[in-house]
Amino acid sequence: MVRRYMLLAVIFLFLCVNVTLAQTSGLTVPSYWQNQRGSILHLNGMDAAGHVVGQYTNKAQGYPCQATYPLVGWIYDNGITFTVAWVNDTESCNSLTSWTGHYNNGAITTQWLLVNNSSGVITKGEDIFGPCSEADASKSKPKSPNSK
Ligand code: BTN
Repeated sequence: MVRRYMLLAVIFLFLCVNVTLAQTSGLTVPSYWQNQRGSILHLNGMDAAGHVVGQYTNKAQGYPCQATYPLVGWIYDNGITFTVAWVNDTESCNSLTSWTGHYNNGAITTQWLLVNNSSGVITKGEDIFGPCSEADASKSKPKSPNSK
C-alpha cells in the first residue's frame, strides 16, 4: 500500500516537473517589454497552466487610448498570445487587439489583429518587444489623472 502511494507521488512529481518545463523557455514572468512604437508590455503573473495576466500601455503614434489597460493571455513553451480590450475606467476605444508570437533570442516577435467594434474594421501589423527595466517602463507610462 505504502509503495503504491510512493509510486503515485513519484508520477505526480514527474508530471509537475514536465508541465513546468513545457511552459517556460526563457520567458520569465514578471517582466517588462517595450515595442518599436514605445508601448509597454508588463507580464505580471502566470499560473501553472501558463495563463498570463498583466498590463499594456499603448504609446503608439497615431492610435487613441494612450493609457494602461489589463491584458490576459497564455504562454506555452516559447509561444505567447495575449489580448487587450481597449476599455478602462476613463476611456474606451470599443476595440480589441490580440498579439501572437514567440520568444526568441531575447525578443518577443508578434503579429497582431486589432478589431474596431464601431467600424467593423480589422487592422493587422507586427510588433517586436525587447526587454526593458521597470524604471524605463514607468518613465514612459502615461500618468494617471490623480498623480502629480
Ligand atoms: C485602438 O486604436 O482602437 C486602440 C489602440 C490600439 C493600439 C495598437 S494595438 C497594435 C499597435 N501596437 C501598439 O503598441 N499599439 C498599436
